[in-house]
Amino acid sequence: MSPAKPRVVFVCSQCGYESPRWLGKCPGCGAWNTLTEQVEAKQPGPAPSRHWASSVAMPLVDVSIVSSPRVSTGMAELDRVLGGGVVPGSLVLIGGDPGIGKSTLLLQAGTALAAGGQRVLYVTGEESAPQVRGQAERLGPVPGNLWLLAETNLEAILSQIEALHPQFVVIDSVQTMFSPDLPAAPGSVGQLRECAGRLLVVAKSTGPAVFLVGHVTKGGEIAGPKVLEHIVDTVLYFEGERHYSYRILRAYKNRFGSTNEIGIFEMTGEGLREVANPSEVFLSGRRAGATGTAVAASMEGTRPLLVEVQALVAPAGLGVPRRVSTGLNYNRVAPIIAVLEKRVGMSLASQDVYVKVAGGVYLDEPAVDLAVAVAIASSYRERPVDPGVVCLGEVGLGGEVRAVSRLEARLAEAARLAFEAVVMPEANYHRLSATPQIALRPVASVEEAIRAALTGT
Ligand code: TYD
Ligand code: MG
Repeated sequence: MSPAKPRVVFVCSQCGYESPRWLGKCPGCGAWNTLTEQVEAKQPGPAPSRHWASSVAMPLVDVSIVSSPRVSTGMAELDRVLGGGVVPGSLVLIGGDPGIGKSTLLLQAGTALAAGGQRVLYVTGEESAPQVRGQAERLGPVPGNLWLLAETNLEAILSQIEALHPQFVVIDSVQTMFSPDLPAAPGSVGQLRECAGRLLVVAKSTGPAVFLVGHVTKGGEIAGPKVLEHIVDTVLYFEGERHYSYRILRAYKNRFGSTNEIGIFEMTGEGLREVANPSEVFLSGRRAGATGTAVAASMEGTRPLLVEVQALVAPAGLGVPRRVSTGLNYNRVAPIIAVLEKRVGMSLASQDVYVKVAGGVYLDEPAVDLAVAVAIASSYRERPVDPGVVCLGEVGLGGEVRAVSRLEARLAEAARLAFEAVVMPEANYHRLSATPQIALRPVASVEEAIRAALTGT
């Protein structure tokens, strides 16, 4: 039998849409010029079915509920984001900008796992073996169970995994790996899909948890097709402002846990340090008594996080006044400025308005609205916010302050950090079950909130 001719397909680099012929516009996602030619592997598709040949269908009621066993990575913040530790046999993709600390995070987790008796294989396609050794040395003693392979050929990597039987494998990065079966270049759609698919088979059939490091594009998405995100069980992003030392690990997809959790780390010369008390850290630079700053309590997963929201209102020059928001979704900030203008009577049309969240975190939660409104009002009126006050509430377009979720957790965090009072939605006030350990200032409108929060009004 003659070998089958390799099939040529055109694959969209954005959404992974496949077409038998070249098209200018991708029918899958509508992007232009994204289809590139790929030669399909001899064995297309990720999984030869023999691994699952023994599976039989059974009534769902007969399936026993065993929660997946978890292994702690030795880093509590990473465990939390993964949903309580690593699930053996899972495939995890970690994306992030170059230099953000992905390699360091995984080398550190690998070191901790190896020190705990697990066998870890770190495959590097980016740095040389001596470079990785040097990095590991800075993180602390290097355990004997941590193995290193400087290799980009997928076949060689798979045979090493078979020989070593590691419980954890790190592939740094998936864009540098290639299968010699495919003529396409490393990092191309076909290669990414082939490499991730083959590693998935290894993870599901022989049980190691596999961490893939993925590069991100300028737009912030993991380079390559969305199919990479569909193949893996968990997608994590490691983010942070380049100029801050804080790093946030966020889950975007997790078959084994919630996607709301975040892990917070601080970069140090000895690697990443876990931040167990993020609120204290994010408030540490606050100048109490200054104008234009308010404290918000945002929920990040199950954790309340107190952060400082800053605003600066300054006379605009000629032309359109500027509105800039950093660390907040501008589409949340713009309506708040309009509410202050129209419902509270501030004249902001001739003013530039800058809003930012201190510390380089990104917040996208309605409960932060009120702190934004109060910070802008404080700067506009040049009156400081009462330094012992936390502001909580969603701002409606009618100028009303709307209820927020998880109020008790937020109040408890404010009380824990010795704040004296919380300006909060009246709608929540009547529904409180327990008496909190902090004074409450319920308000119904933004105007009332500003009065309750600013000093000397
Ligand atoms: P690296 O982990 O290599 O980033 P990525 O893999 O995402 O490209 O980290 C980039 C550089 O920063 C590297 O030279 C090590 C340094 N670094 C520290 O010194 N301390 C830290 O805590 C981290 C995370 C990185
Ligand atoms: Mg790296």
